[in-house]
Amino acid sequence: TILVLDFGSQYSHLITRRLRELNVYSEMLPCTQKLSELSWKPKGIILSGGPYSVYWDDAPHVDPAAFELGVPILGICYGLQEIAWHFAKNVLAGEKREYGHAYLKVERHTGKAAHVDALFAGLEDDMEVWMSHGDKLSNLPSDFTTIATTTNAPFAGMAHETKPLYGIQFHPEVTHTPKGVQLLKNFAVDICKAKTDWTMGKFVDQEIARIRALVGEKGQVIGAVSGGVDSTVAAALMKEAIGDRFHAVLVDNGVLRMNEAEQVKETLTKHLGIQLTVVDASERFLGLLKGVTDDPEKKRKIIGNTFIHVFQEEAKKIQAAAAGSPKAGEIEWLLQGTLYPDVIESISFKGPSATIKTHHNVGGLLEGMHLKVIEPLRELFKDEVRELGTKLGLAEELVWRHPFPGPGIAIRILGEVTAEQVRIARHADYIFIEEIRAAGLYRKISQAFAALLPVKAVGVMGDKRVHSQVIALRAVETSDFMTADWYPFDGAFLKKVSRRIVNEVDGVCRVVYDITSKPPGTIEME
Ligand code: XMP
Repeated sequence: TILVLDFGSQYSHLITRRLRELNVYSEMLPCTQKLSELSWKPKGIILSGGPYSVYWDDAPHVDPAAFELGVPILGICYGLQEIAWHFAKNVLAGEKREYGHAYLKVERHTGKAAHVDALFAGLEDDMEVWMSHGDKLSNLPSDFTTIATTTNAPFAGMAHETKPLYGIQFHPEVTHTPKGVQLLKNFAVDICKAKTDWTMGKFVDQEIARIRALVGEKGQVIGAVSGGVDSTVAAALMKEAIGDRFHAVLVDNGVLRMNEAEQVKETLTKHLGIQLTVVDASERFLGLLKGVTDDPEKKRKIIGNTFIHVFQEEAKKIQAAAAGSPKAGEIEWLLQGTLYPDVIESISFKGPSATIKTHHNVGGLLEGMHLKVIEPLRELFKDEVRELGTKLGLAEELVWRHPFPGPGIAIRILGEVTAEQVRIARHADYIFIEEIRAAGLYRKISQAFAALLPVKAVGVMGDKRVHSQVIALRAVETSDFMTADWYPFDGAFLKKVSRRIVNEVDGVCRVVYDITSKPPGTIEME
């Protein structure tokens, strides 16, 4: 395992990701991690970039024990400065920030220890790299030698003369450094001698064994499913591990997509053989949403809280039934589909005050149930979850599903949510998605939906004037959902969707397309 210590750079998680792509297992921990508290010894350590300056009083620093472990260390950007700071305290604010492409000249050293040149082995002498930093070294710490330069950074790469310690000013983990992966491979595989045996198949075996050991011979697990990728993959894995001792619950909140509850039921019970209870709580949810017209956060709160109540009631029923059954013990575990980015988010070193956010999960909110949380996906990134889902036999359609928000269609019905409004929004959404799939665009688009606007417009339908509602279509492309751009459909496609919606959905006489990017818009309209 390669240990990545995170100093808060926006690219940190990519380091872990790239290493796993090389089949090297890697874990990322906050930079403040005490190495004596680790239960395993890393084969090598990577210090990430970060938004701080090492010379600030409150800057985060790596546990000095890292330099005593005797394992190779690679510092990237802030990580390079951190190594220089550890040895010589010679980092300065640069005259100007350097951000973007740069051309690196690699320096080779015949006559020096072999490890000095090992980081750039097999790479060309001129490399395109990506820079993003403000500080730079004023000079090299003693015992280090320059291994790469750029016009702006005379110490763009350095290596220790006798130990496998390296620092680079650029970011090898981003795709803007085209040969960056080769450099990471040189470090992890050739210099650290990390094993290259991490595969999804191995992960599945290990995780199933871990779940079985954790839950025991009789233990039972309960978990909510939504039909989304994460909860379905987590459920499929639990089923593989413990069979019928896993109980899935789908809460139908009345604001799911058209036919969704039935589809989830079909997939989970028929295809995956998972034990599933569907709770139809539509009326309860819609009753509580009544009269909430212009407060999206209130909608979210009502739906979130009611979900917890309904799920808890159901969990108690299943728990009571399980306790009475001769074959098994009480349910004591709660399954959560937490992914690695959520874990990183909650353990990351945030700001100079080193506050650690507590992870939000349903487990803590279920009163008096004393459930322990089990998170089989906590080491995986989204695309790895998709790969795992495919391995577990999930249909491609499910594996590549667009994300769908917990509050569902309720935050896509601007204004009051009523059964009638749900019917209209759902139907229009169904047509839009059906056409997107038919046009082969579903995978190109990151998220798409139809929203119902709280206004009426005039139209002529048949020979009559009508005064009815307006559907807004939204479709975006994004890689991280933090920024997004609207999808440039061609006119013929939009014409077809618009015609179908106006003709087929009662109560709609106009369709508009949302051409707002994020920012300033958000993806959802409420
Ligand atoms: P925004 O609208 O903030 O959405 O640009 C970014 C992503 O988050 C999803 N989203 C939610 N998901 N509960 C959820 O589970 C919510 O309240 C919620 N609000 C937004 C949204 O669908 C998009 O993928």
